[in-house]
Amino acid sequence: MALGEQIEIDVRTRMIAGQELDMAARQPDVGNVIVHRAGDLLVLVDSGVTSVIRDAIRSAADDLAPWSKILLLTTHGHPDHVGNNDIITDLGKGLDKSNVHHFVSAHDASQYHDHGLPYWTTSLDRVSGLVPGFEDPSAATRRLLAMFQPYVPITDITRTYEELPLEHLAIGSQHMSGWSFGDGAVQVIRTHGHCAGQVVVHLPEARLLHLSDEPNGPCGAMHDANQMNIFAALAQALTLVETDAVDIVTEGHAFEVFDRPTAAERLSTLLDQAAALDGAAQALLSGGIDDLPAFVDAFVARSQALGVSGANPNPMFNTMMTIAKLRELGLVAKGKGPQQTWSRPVLDDSMGAPSSSVE
Ligand SMILES: [Fe+2]
Repeated sequence: MALGEQIEIDVRTRMIAGQELDMAARQPDVGNVIVHRAGDLLVLVDSGVTSVIRDAIRSAADDLAPWSKILLLTTHGHPDHVGNNDIITDLGKGLDKSNVHHFVSAHDASQYHDHGLPYWTTSLDRVSGLVPGFEDPSAATRRLLAMFQPYVPITDITRTYEELPLEHLAIGSQHMSGWSFGDGAVQVIRTHGHCAGQVVVHLPEARLLHLSDEPNGPCGAMHDANQMNIFAALAQALTLVETDAVDIVTEGHAFEVFDRPTAAERLSTLLDQAAALDGAAQALLSGGIDDLPAFVDAFVARSQALGVSGANPNPMFNTMMTIAKLRELGLVAKGKGPQQTWSRPVLDDSMGAPSSSVE
């Protein structure tokens, strides 16, 4: 699919296709955008990045008219999802301000400080000296982020989901927490797996669950990813699909729309891969790691043999995923770069019960 191409999910719902990352070609990855009309409310889920996506959002908004309220929901703060967030003010021109809203999780607010540089430097620092071209994390971050234009994540109307009262949401047989909008026409579910503030979006009228970047892979790469939350989000989505509570599943970086059978297959594969990936790491560990570059190569080869690709299967993300897996296993790093070693936590006598009672 070409960048900006629109897939009609139903007469009031479109997916605008993003694209894959190609660092050599200086091509940013772009997350898919969902545009949906519920009554007089136009809902945008993410705004992607690049002017091509901006034009596509505008065209979809025109096609889905009439609407008199607009709501932009950011699934998480990464630049491939938030670049065009100021389109909300363009589309909202002529509307009363009380009818134009943008929400993002408070947990992703730190990503916006200083144009995202500290957040991404923290993640890229983990691969410093392990991936060619990433010796200087700060310079690598600047190079990476420069690909994402425009980058306007916050506007003067942006608010956080966490300012709203948290709701108990029930979808089919599943219970979750989050926030609803438009008298229940949109449900935002907090999942917090792919990164600290990640949410997924349910559009009941379209029977659509947009998982954004939770299914990017069975092991999250970012420093603020939570592997257990990723697994839980995918497992809950699978249950929703298996119990016919949703009919359609979309993702941030799969440029297709999944029906129930294909979504079920994809989600169960991801859950199986999460377990298999753990087994692969365990099999390669002999107590600890003295040669991290060799471990990364071996682990990435095993993960590829398992069919794990991730949204962007390049050396940077593969190495970040390996480090994230080691941390999930509770291993502890010592040192920096290729010389760093990893070991299991020391379980010694001092951790047990005191030999005499402590007064
Ligand atoms: Fe993404």
